[in-house]
Amino acid sequence: MASFLLLQSSPALLATWHGLSARVLTNGPSAFEATHGKDLWSYVATNPALSKLFNESMACDARRVVPEIINGCPGLLDGLDSLVDVGGGNGTTMRLLVKACDWIRGINFDLPHVVSDAPACVRVEHVGGDMFDSVPNADAAFLMVIISLCIYLFRGRLATGYGGG
Ligand SMILES: C[S@@+](CC[C@H](N)C(=O)[O-])C[C@H]1O[C@@H](n2cnc3c(N)ncnc32)[C@H](O)[C@@H]1O
Repeated sequence: MASFLLLQSSPALLATWHGLSARVLTNGPSAFEATHGKDLWSYVATNPALSKLFNESMACDARRVVPEIINGCPGLLDGLDSLVDVGGGNGTTMRLLVKACDWIRGINFDLPHVVSDAPACVRVEHVGGDMFDSVPNADAAFLMVIISLCIYLFRGRLATGYGGG
């Protein structure tokens, strides 16, 4: 969990705590955006070291959670030939899933700067893109720690007329 602790104590993330009360009391941008003038994803896209630390800290969590899913839900992926992990970071989750279910072809989908740094893995294809434009086709989609992000972004983008309203 070292990466997770290093991320949380990084200057960029620590600074956002100073804006927490303003964030809670108003309906404005996120504490991160209010502090840095851009959202987290745009910020890390131009900060490779922080991006790597963020992706590795998510991978720490995946290494703990995904085995629980695999062991706790036997048969969950039965019958699937392909699976796309939307917002899959550096591909750790998909690597663990295809290792446990060796009949599956995995697609790890995330922003281009994230997948460009993802380690290669047999039966996992890394695809870069924006999930609000399109998502690669597969028999099923897997989303982990991302539903809240979708709700948050969709609300923000709908409120600003994203995608033609
Ligand atoms: C909170 S992390 C979760 C990572 C991974 N699912 C996990 O649980 O370990 C959210 C992920 O969504 C990705 N992401 C953010 N906006 C995205 C977008 N518009 N399209 C695709 N991926 C996006 C981020 O780069 C990040 O890897």
